[in-house]
Amino acid sequence: MAEQTPDPDVGQTHADSLEALAARVAVCTRCPLAATRTQTVFGEGNPDAPLVIVGEGPGEQEDQTGRPFVGRAGMLLDECLLANGITRRHVYICNAVKCRACIIEGRRARNRPPTPDEMAACYPWLTEQLGILRPLVILSVGAPSAKTLIDPAFQIMRQRGQWRDGGAHCRHIMAVLHPAFILRHGGEEFERLRQTLIDDIGSARRKVIEAKKQPQPALF
Ligand code: URA
Repeated sequence: MAEQTPDPDVGQTHADSLEALAARVAVCTRCPLAATRTQTVFGEGNPDAPLVIVGEGPGEQEDQTGRPFVGRAGMLLDECLLANGITRRHVYICNAVKCRACIIEGRRARNRPPTPDEMAACYPWLTEQLGILRPLVILSVGAPSAKTLIDPAFQIMRQRGQWRDGGAHCRHIMAVLHPAFILRHGGEEFERLRQTLIDDIGSARRKVIEAKKQPQPALF
């Protein structure tokens, strides 16, 4: 039988290509997170989605289930997507880092942010994944994702909500507040930050509609 080509332009669907990549990621040992993970969390959703959401990395529940954004932060993200009429069937969701970063304390593991080295080790997987997905628009969720995809000096509180050229990854990219950050606030501040996330997602929805109307630059 002829060998399958990983190029989505010559036969394989995005879903096939993602599945093949996920199988390679599942056995990755490029950084020390491989030693403490339960499993990799590759990403899920519509492989042909024009909008891709890239978070920081899996937490405890994501590590347990193998699915991105399924904990409290994920529930808030779902709520803010739904406020714009968007469900997980409309988008593809993944993370900049595919394994849970944690500190082992006695018999318990506590989440921690991935280190710059861990993020750098995972970056080739993310670029390969985005190269298959080829979205029109990326929402980069939280500072570590924005530092990875937009600018290492990115300042999330000052620069969120600003559209940028997506470079090699997509046509347009914007960073939004991380729902886990929003959940650390209460009362009116929580409501204000939650509304900011809803509004930024609304801006992304409009950006997709606008981008779909613009012709794709063709090679020939
Ligand atoms: N936070 C993230 O950035 N990603 C997840 O998948 C879950 C929580």
